Amino acid sequence: METTTRRAPVIAIDGPSGAGKGSVSRAIAQALKCRYVDTGAMYRAVAWMALHDGLALDDEAALGRLATEAELVLDQQTVSVEGHDVTRLIRTADIDAAAARVARIPAVRDALVARQRAYTDAGGVVMEGRDIGTAVFPGADVKIFLDASPDERASRRASDAAHGMGGEAANLSDVASALAARDQSDRTRQSSPLVMADDAVLVDTTGVGLDGVVARVLDIVRKRLGTAP
Ligand code: DC
Repeated sequence: METTTRRAPVIAIDGPSGAGKGSVSRAIAQALKCRYVDTGAMYRAVAWMALHDGLALDDEAALGRLATEAELVLDQQTVSVEGHDVTRLIRTADIDAAAARVARIPAVRDALVARQRAYTDAGGVVMEGRDIGTAVFPGADVKIFLDASPDERASRRASDAAHGMGGEAANLSDVASALAARDQSDRTRQSSPLVMADDAVLVDTTGVGLDGVVARVLDIVRKRLGTAP
């Protein structure tokens, strides 16, 4: 008979933009009946609020305060900050660029990481981001690093309806160069740069459809958690 109760699992899913983290993480959370947390949306919401309030994106003290104090609510479908529903408003090219800037600021990262850790108080989580397996939960039960070729990531991003620029079809080469600039910023920043954790499992999603990636990740997760059939 089972005598120990397993604590709720923490699944970390990291990787660069356009690797498919969002769709994959949602599907894994649904399969495991865990909460899904999109940490990129938290950096985006802070960036949106900063622009809304007219804060300078290099005002580290003001941005750190904002990230600490703002009322930030993520549920499974929506994101709101200080009572503004920003679910769609944070998926624009301006916020892509502004979020990458605020994500470089240590005071912002410290504040958001503290909020991210608190999500486990309510049970298991599947958390996606850049530093989940390295900085937020170095002891996560399972760490996945999703990647894909730069071309494939750019074309996914360009055709991502949730990331639509006011309904206009995004120009692929503009998307590719903006994505390369953000990658560079995410990988080279001083504070928690995007790197794969030593104990993460690399999943290359180039040329693999969503269902195939989800099946592969779910298999890895179930084996690691010891719940494989
Ligand atoms: O995943 P995303 O594109 O929504 O992330 C928005 C920005 O926030 C992006 O520049 C990477 C950054 N980010 C981060 O630094 N750490 C995280 N855990 C999640 C996102």
